[in-house]
Amino acid sequence: MADNDKIIDGKAFAEALRGRIAGAVSTLKAEHGVTPGLAVVLVGEDPASQVYVRNKAKQTVACGMESFEHRLPAETSQADLLSLIAKLNADDAVHGILVQLPLPDQIEEQAVIDAVDPDKDVDGFHVVNTGRLATGAPAMVPCTPLGCLMMLQDRLGDLSGLEAVIVGRSNIVGKPMAALLTGANCTVTIAHSRTRDLAAVCRRADILVAAVGRPEMIRGDWVKPGAAVIDVGINRVPAAEEGKTRLVGDVAFAEAAEVAGAITPVPGGVGPMTIAVLLRNTVVAACRQAGVTEPEI
Ligand code: GUN
Repeated sequence: MADNDKIIDGKAFAEALRGRIAGAVSTLKAEHGVTPGLAVVLVGEDPASQVYVRNKAKQTVACGMESFEHRLPAETSQADLLSLIAKLNADDAVHGILVQLPLPDQIEEQAVIDAVDPDKDVDGFHVVNTGRLATGAPAMVPCTPLGCLMMLQDRLGDLSGLEAVIVGRSNIVGKPMAALLTGANCTVTIAHSRTRDLAAVCRRADILVAAVGRPEMIRGDWVKPGAAVIDVGINRVPAAEEGKTRLVGDVAFAEAAEVAGAITPVPGGVGPMTIAVLLRNTVVAACRQAGVTEPEI
């Protein structure tokens, strides 16, 4: 079994990050009279999304920020959602806007992502932010990959020259993760379902990021001894006990932990970081909109 100091504790890391965010918020209020505000829009009643939104609102307030929640019925039209986004874009008290995904079928996700003011796009999904990230300009950076980078830099320090392999090429995780690790001077490979001899490619990695959404696909013998393994997967699978389920990542944790130098567990690894980074992005957005120098958080 893994010794405990190999495990990257995302829950503790997120808690510490929230502490720094609360400090930055209090300074922003006291010195500049700015209270960062985050608007979260939820369309419909997806139970998992409701839990996320509730947690986001709670943590936003706990860090001293304003939370604006907009719950719309499942049958909301695209035009009505776009008109709410236009109002939030124009509202000076709102520095960050997050529209919870997935959206109901009658609404085209891309049209919604495109409608959010890029400077308020705390998800970092707008194509303007994708472009800014790719070119090294100040961007809103997607929360999950940024959280992964923060944990890697905390554990490894300077990442320059390291071989990074990302399994998964999604717009939300794989591609921005590649941009961030390239920016941190890693040699980056994006692997995916069509990659030949995926196991051999993974074995090259000093940093292995798994973001494919396939339960325990990355095996222990795919991991280079001493590598840092970041598991972005959250997959619900049947548990040993009849009728129960449990969460597993994209990495076979027990096997990989034998070999890795550092590894994130599921749950308790990358997951808790995502909301904390969202709050951090909201503070950054508020500073940029107010013309205040961004604090290091
Ligand atoms: N649904 C699940 N995670 C996320 C997220 O990070 N952002 C948005 N907008 N929707 C989500």
